[in-house]
Amino acid sequence: MIPANWTQIRCWKLAVWKTSWIHLPALVLPLVLFGCGGGGGDGEDTGSQAEPGATVEPGSDLTEWELENGIGPVTEPLALGDIDPGLVAQGEEIFNLKCSACHKLDQRYVAPPLRDVTSRRTPEFVMNMLLNPLEMTQRHPATKELLAEYYTPMTPQGLTNEDARAILDFLRQALADGPAGGG
Ligand code: HEC
Repeated sequence: MIPANWTQIRCWKLAVWKTSWIHLPALVLPLVLFGCGGGGGDGEDTGSQAEPGATVEPGSDLTEWELENGIGPVTEPLALGDIDPGLVAQGEEIFNLKCSACHKLDQRYVAPPLRDVTSRRTPEFVMNMLLNPLEMTQRHPATKELLAEYYTPMTPQGLTNEDARAILDFLRQALADGPAGGG
């Protein structure tokens, strides 16, 4: 087959050249594709139009509830009673096992200190962070901000609702106790 015009010859040559240089730098590929694109017609130019929604406000895809209380399985206000000492003990055990590698109560570590987290976030937000950290890190503006600060994404810890509820009471108690050593 003989190419019908110069553009096609040029593209055909580029295609041959491309396939013989498998490890072509990534930059060159788009140039080749761009140069040969459009099916040969000098038709409409759609390349410079911005994608609709490309510059949305962070978190504008979230509801008011989600902004305040996080994204996850908890979608309604929790009915919290008094701090339950049984839950606190259970929560402390899980915290030492699964969280303390990254979080301390009072010091900044791999991750933010958590003693005051229940004063900064709603209980529902904390629960959603415990149960759905991946989506929180990807979509919630407050959590994305923390990710930008700490560079590490919080990994899912395989917690049940009950585990998360126990940790919540442990954290509520930690806030009530205040910093160890009065500092
Ligand atoms: C691998 C390290 C790591 C582990 C393990 C981990 N986290 Fe996190 N956590 C983070 C980081 C980092 C952040 C900040 C947000 C981000 O980067 O994902 C965070 C954020 C949080 C937040 C939100 C803080 C805020 O101010 O919004 C809570 C609450 C939390 N973690 C609780 C826990 C609990 C409870 C556990 C144990 C079940 C745990 N994390 C296990 C790294 C970790």
